[in-house]
Amino acid sequence: MPSPDTVTRAPAVAGEVAKFVAAGLAALAVFVIGAVLVIRDLGQSEALRDARQFAILSGQGIVEPVLRDSLLRGDRRALEAVDVAVQERVLGERIVRVKIWDRAGRVVYSDEPRAIGSTFPLEDEKLEVLRTGEARAELSNLAGPENRFERGLGELYEVYLPIRTPDGTPLLFETYQRAEEVSSTGRRIWLPFAALVLWSLVLLWLVQVPLAWRLANRVRRGHEERERLLERAVDASIDERRRIAGELHDGVVQDLAGISYSLSAAADRLPQDAPADVRAALREGATATRDSMRRIRSLLLEIHPPNLRAAGLGAALADLVTPLATHGIAVELDVADALALPEDVEQLVYRAAGEALRNVEKHAHASRVSVELRARDGAVRLAVVDDGVGFTAEERERRRAEGHVGLSLVEELATRAGGRIEIRSAPGRGTMFTLEVPA
Ligand SMILES: Nc1ncnc2c1ncn2[C@@H]1O[C@H](COP(=O)(O)OP(=O)(O)OP(=O)(O)O)[C@@H](O)[C@H]1O
Ligand SMILES: [Mg+2]
Repeated sequence: MPSPDTVTRAPAVAGEVAKFVAAGLAALAVFVIGAVLVIRDLGQSEALRDARQFAILSGQGIVEPVLRDSLLRGDRRALEAVDVAVQERVLGERIVRVKIWDRAGRVVYSDEPRAIGSTFPLEDEKLEVLRTGEARAELSNLAGPENRFERGLGELYEVYLPIRTPDGTPLLFETYQRAEEVSSTGRRIWLPFAALVLWSLVLLWLVQVPLAWRLANRVRRGHEERERLLERAVDASIDERRRIAGELHDGVVQDLAGISYSLSAAADRLPQDAPADVRAALREGATATRDSMRRIRSLLLEIHPPNLRAAGLGAALADLVTPLATHGIAVELDVADALALPEDVEQLVYRAAGEALRNVEKHAHASRVSVELRARDGAVRLAVVDDGVGFTAEERERRRAEGHVGLSLVEELATRAGGRIEIRSAPGRGTMFTLEVPA
């Protein structure tokens, strides 16, 4: 029988897969952001190194060879020689300004003539460069007065390094490089890497989606299969019980009826002078046979539950509690009137009550038990409460491991019907079994 909630459970698979996909995406995002930051940083420092190299080449390779000692005295020819080299071979897309400083902070040359001759004491880093001879690169702070001619040129990196005049006087050679040009070098380095990382991760993530989908589907199918098996097992056991009930009813019970009738008739037909003990034996036999018949009939009732539709749930529950009453347990049965329940809910309530009451009879050693069935807010609630010996969760677990699954079966059935059971019990405190199902 196809389970009716197959359809309603399908979105659950989609939901699980969506959760998986979202989690994957989140992890991917975190990883990609981290990777991009690291790679970009690497690209950036690579680009700065590049800028420094550029400045060193210009300073030491192009400008230093044309320096003359007379430049320091402001000689026009010496200035022109430097200017030609700078204008023709240093300035371009990337390097937009060049300045040469002496140790005292005087600009001895710049491609911006207005800057030549002005003096701004050199900051510590620049003096440090003169001392160590190592080139330095940093983002320009264009706010300072020494940079007033550079302000229109956008963001700039300044790179400075020492160069020497022929007589060995140290000067500071400074280039200003467009930040845009420097970072585009950086981008050229890191973008391809970042793209590669991103695409491989996205691919990895995409490959997992169908896998997750298949896995979730398989889990769901397994679940459904299990439910089908359980249902079939329950159905099969009901069928088997019916068959046995039928056999007993049509065979043994009819035979017993015949035997008891014959024994009674034989006892009646005995002549007056027949021995008294023979007559007594015949009558006893008839009584015993009738007794056995009655017992088998009540067994049949248990095996073959009454037709709930025809008899009504109240009557069926009353039948269920009768055996307890005959064992001297005080029974209280309280079934709400006019409960119009769907048939499958009635079946479930009946099964649950049967299991709970059989447990009371078998395990509880109770002196009283109450059964209550009530409808409330679109649900029915069955409560079976006894005052018996109670039990612990471990005890139930142990019994389950031994194959005693009465309560577990009821629990499964209740869950499948969208309801639940609850068992409250403690040693010596009795047991309360409740079942709640939407009706
Ligand atoms: N009303 C009760 N009072 C005391 N103990 C109980 C009661 N109901 C259940 N138990 C305990 O819980 C255990 C599990 O109950 P469950 O109905 O699952 O299995 P079972 O009755 O032992 O076997 P089965 O129902 O499969 O014939 C029982 O073995 C018993 O120890
Ligand atoms: Mg049981």
